[in-house]
This record gives sequence, C-alpha cells and structure tokens, in this order.
Amino acid sequence: MIFFGGERERESRQEVVLRKVSYSAKTQSCRKCFTCLKCEVKLREEVTIIERQRGKGIFTDKIFFRLNYIPEKVYECEEMDKVAKFFADFLDYNVSDDIFLVGPSGTGKTLSALYLVKELFDLSTQKIGKSYVNCRTNSTEYSAIQQIAFDLGVKLPARGLGTSEGYKRTFESIKDYDRILIILDEVEKLKDLTNIVYAFTRGNEVFGVDVPISLIFITNNIHIFQRLDVPTKSSLHLHSVVFDRYNADELYKILVDRARFGLKSGCYDETSLRYIAAKTAKITGDARLAILSLEMAGKYCEVNKVATISPEVIDKTFGEAMDALELNTLYKINFQPLLILYSLATLAKNTEEAIYIKKLYERYKNLCMSAGEDILSYSQFHHHLSYLQSQDTILLTREKHFKGGYRVLAQLNILPEGVRKIFNERLNEGALPAYSLSMQKKLT
Ligand SMILES: Nc1ncnc2c1ncn2[C@@H]1O[C@H](COP(=O)(O)OP(=O)(O)OP(=O)(O)O)[C@@H](O)[C@H]1O
Ligand SMILES: [Mg+2]
Repeated sequence: MIFFGGERERESRQEVVLRKVSYSAKTQSCRKCFTCLKCEVKLREEVTIIERQRGKGIFTDKIFFRLNYIPEKVYECEEMDKVAKFFADFLDYNVSDDIFLVGPSGTGKTLSALYLVKELFDLSTQKIGKSYVNCRTNSTEYSAIQQIAFDLGVKLPARGLGTSEGYKRTFESIKDYDRILIILDEVEKLKDLTNIVYAFTRGNEVFGVDVPISLIFITNNIHIFQRLDVPTKSSLHLHSVVFDRYNADELYKILVDRARFGLKSGCYDETSLRYIAAKTAKITGDARLAILSLEMAGKYCEVNKVATISPEVIDKTFGEAMDALELNTLYKINFQPLLILYSLATLAKNTEEAIYIKKLYERYKNLCMSAGEDILSYSQFHHHLSYLQSQDTILLTREKHFKGGYRVLAQLNILPEGVRKIFNERLNEGALPAYSLSMQKKLT
C-alpha cells in the first residue's frame, strides 16, 4: 500500500504516477516473463485480439473507431505528461489548484483528462469526488450543478429548486470527501460560467466546508476567462496546458493502436497507416480525422471486397472522412444555430446554391413559428451566422445589389442532406431542449 504525506512518500507517489503514464513502454520490456502482473495483462490483451480475428470482414470491433472512445492504452504526448504531473501534485498536496486545457479540436484534451483521472485516481487511497460535466449538453448553471451533484452522490430534482439551494445541497454532500475534482469540458458552452466558478472556488467559505476543490477547464477558446469578472478570476489558481496539433509521427502512433485492436491483422500495413497520418497532418493534425479516415478505408474494403487497406483506397475515402468530421461538428453546435443551418438546408439544393440571408431569416422565422419556438432578433440571427461561418459550416459572401449597396448570401459547406439527417437525429436523441419535442412532430 502507498501512503502519502512526507517527502519520501511524495517521491514514491510521483514515481507511481510516472510509471503509470509510461505503462505501455514498460509492458513491452518484460513481455518475456509472462508471470508478472504486467505480462499477465498483456497476455490477456493478446488472447482477446486473437479471438477477435475470427469472423468475416475487416473490422474486429468498430468501437475502437468511435470518437468518444477512451482507449486502454494511449499515445502519451508531451501535454498529457504535463497534466499527469498536475494530477500527481493534486494527489500529494492539500491545495486546490485549477487547470486549463486549451487547444484545437482533436488534440486529445478530453481524452487526457478522462484517461488520467481514471488511471491515476483509482490508485489513490484518498476519497476523491470526481465529476465530469459536458457543458454542451449541460449548458445552463442549474443543469451543470445537477450533473456535479449527481456525480458526487446527490440527486437534485429536474425542476423547482433554485440554483442557491442546488449549491447548498451539493456542498453538503462534499463534506464526505477528502477532495473534489470537477471537469468542465467544452466550457465555452456554459452560459453562467462566472457563477459556477465563483461558487466552487469560494463555496467552502460560504457553506462552511473545508474540502479542496479543483476545477479542470477544457476548451478550444483561449479567451474564455475574459468572460469572468475580476474577483472570480482572482479566486482561481490556474495552471495552463496548451495542446498542439499532432504531427504525422504522433498520428501514426495513435493509429497503430486503433488498427491493432479494431482491424484484423493482414488487412492493413505500416505504409497505409503512415499515409493517413501524413495526409491528416498536412491538413489539420486532428486525431479525429485520422481515426475516421482509417475507419472509412476499412468500410470501403469491406463493401468492395478489397483485402487490404492501401494508399489508393485511402485516396478514395479521405474526402468522405473529412465530410463525416464536418458533420460531426453538427453534434456540437447549440440548438438555435443548428436550426438556422437546418433552415438553410431546406432552402439550398446543394453546396453551390447561395441564399439571400433575408430569405433565410424568413424561413427560420416560419420554422420557429410552426413549432412554437422563440424567434431570434435579426441582429442575434446575424451573430449566429458569423458563428456558423467560424465553424466552417457555412460561407457568407457579399453581392452588389442592383438598387445599390450590397446584400449578403449564405452557402452551405456541408451537403444539405447531411445537415437534415443530423438535425433529425439530434431531435430523436432528445439532445435538444425539451420544447423541441413539439418541433419534432411539426418539422419532421
Ligand atoms: N494521445 C492519444 N492517444 C490515443 N488516442 C487519441 C490521443 N489523442 C486523441 N486521441 C483520439 O482522438 C479523438 C479526439 O480526441 P479528444 O476528443 O480528446 O480531442 P479534443 O482535443 O477534446 O477535441 P475537441 O476540442 O473537439 O473536444 C478521440 O477519439 C481520442 O480517443
Ligand atoms: Mg473534447
């Protein structure tokens, strides 16, 4: 058993953390003995892989290609090491520092936080309360508190309780823990960021609790803290880790594990994985594109009865993977911009057709009215159009008007049928607000 406290114990704790982080490398080095725990795990892993090789097709299991999949073994990038060191300090000292993980999409921010929390805190002898809040699906203050309370063992009612009572009950449950860690993922989507940050950094004083709380902020937006007022900002003890886009070599290492677990051996080779990695690094360095591209190439081989994934197959399917990734961003955008995008997809036949934005606003208003939905003002609508353009989902252009002046036109960057499909899928999944149920009936 490992005890924490003195300097010696602290060193041993850090060793454990770092050992855990470089676990995969170490298992390789003692593969021969097959008696130690590490080799046993490795052996079990290999037996599972052999079992999966049976059956038809190229894939052994498509789960390894899901974008929210947390692999057993990850490629340990430099940024992940920094986060691991922060967690090691979190476990050793009685401090409540916070961490800010920022960087472009597909650089492993969510994975690093979830993987390391799982790997490292399971070793701890302390009672640590952990909460993961996806702020895209919990974008209001109350739904975020509800999620945090739930993760810490308290069920808050869906309605009828004010936020202050929600905080009170949550802090009452916190007393049972040695320390608390709250992950706020895609935090830019959280509407009341200041209130939540203030509550969890100052709540101990207000509610008379003495449990260190650390917040982990994950976002693409480096300017997110500009939204906080000065007293709230000063209550944070922030460490930052900036995630960089992956290079070809790093993407190759990520792909090797996906291929090893998800594809049958003999259906791919190093050249094809390196080819995908190089192509992805050239465009975005986004691990999601590399993983999707490997999956699309595998699907192509299955459908067309091609035995192995080759650079020729990858060239054929890479564009499809890019489209699929664009569609994936539609799962991330909020309801109102998605509705505007959907309105455009009902007007434009293809990505070439440009629609005058006044006509688009009329269509959007009609859809809102027919579903009893609140209508955004024209200036708010404009604001959402700029956001959609920043997400690469639409293109706004200006055209000279015959009466003088200019008029603005919107064009989809994604196929309209793709937008309609995802809009309907999100309605069906209930990922959109409750009132969208009425919309579902009227719009689909
Ligand atoms: N170091 C890595 N090792 C293995 N897989 C990785 C690694 N980094 C990223 N991935 C995989 O790439 C995909 C994207 O990673 P992740 O979701 O963590 O990105 P992100 O930075 O949080 O992106 P976003 O900003 O869009 O939320 C996931 O499927 C993840 O498992
Ligand atoms: Mg993420």
